[in-house]
Amino acid sequence: MSTTTLRDISDKQAAESHWAVETHGLTKRFGENVAVNAVELLVPRGCAFGYLGPNGAGKTTLIRVLLGLTRADAGTMSLLGYPVPKHRDAALARVGAIVDEPRFHGHLTGRENLEILAAARESAARQRVGSSLERVGLLHRADDRVSKYSMGMRQRLGVAACLIGDPQLLILDEPMNGLDPAGMQEMRAMILSLVAEGRTVVLSSHLLDEVERTCDAVAIVDQGQIIRQGPISELLGGAALELQVECSEPDRARSLLEGTTIGARIEVGELGLGISLPAETQRDVIAEINRILVEGGISVFRLQQIQASLEAWFLQVTSRLGASE
Ligand SMILES: Nc1ncnc2c1ncn2[C@@H]1O[C@H](COP(=O)(O)OP(=O)(O)OP(=O)(O)O)[C@@H](O)[C@H]1O
Ligand SMILES: [Mg+2]
Repeated sequence: MSTTTLRDISDKQAAESHWAVETHGLTKRFGENVAVNAVELLVPRGCAFGYLGPNGAGKTTLIRVLLGLTRADAGTMSLLGYPVPKHRDAALARVGAIVDEPRFHGHLTGRENLEILAAARESAARQRVGSSLERVGLLHRADDRVSKYSMGMRQRLGVAACLIGDPQLLILDEPMNGLDPAGMQEMRAMILSLVAEGRTVVLSSHLLDEVERTCDAVAIVDQGQIIRQGPISELLGGAALELQVECSEPDRARSLLEGTTIGARIEVGELGLGISLPAETQRDVIAEINRILVEGGISVFRLQQIQASLEAWFLQVTSRLGASE
């Protein structure tokens, strides 16, 4: 895969780029505080990509840098194959973004707000006001004042505002913020439908569960640095193997296992044991655990492997990061 350099680039060359977002060594400092720290981000086209990290991790700052709302201190970046800031106009004509909360004129209707935004863009944008409202399910409320909209409706109007530019890439900063479970589900369905049309959606979030459910790939960021990135299915491959064992005499069961070379982390719970094994553990070890318990006179009622969620993995990675400091 060739790396984009800061040379002139034609629309055709840009379209051939595999990456919707590509950054190298991207860095943004606020005094001593490195909010974005040598970020190497690669977002493939045509996917939903989560930029996942706790509060203060540098998510909004990265998005502001990508959009040219604030200047990077170091590094290079490109959007849809266009190096920015050099080709910022060409790139941003193809990008729709919501940073922080979408802001609208409350005394105007949803439709009027979009018409104002469309007037500042190419003529085709005006034609898309109705279809964008329809896309986000707001057509029936399009002529109500925005001041009467719920939070979820405002978020959807924000997405409609992105869509009037027919963007290939949408960058949404915390799109699930403030939404109730039904609103989150609507937003998720909308994001998936945009991806199904061939667009790329990058969303930032501190909600692990939402990213896991919505995105195909993820970058996990902490203190300005990407810890890991890639397809969610691949990242989960790095998670510990978790077993739940319902059994008699859990304390004695734990001692039995701790007296072996299995190398498991074992917790005693109400019903039995929670066992955490290294990711590379072979399946035979599970059978071995069962054998040790049964031969030790423990009754095993249930032995179940738990699917590690991205959340468990995320906590595992970040705690390891803290421990090494
Ligand atoms: N304009 C600014 N001036 C100084 N420091 C800033 C500024 N904007 C952000 N920061 C700092 O940069 C770091 C990253 O902030 P940022 O808002 O990017 O985090 P975030 O991941 O978006 O967090 P959240 O989940 O709370 O939205 C924080 O330490 C923050 O205090
Ligand atoms: Mg933020």
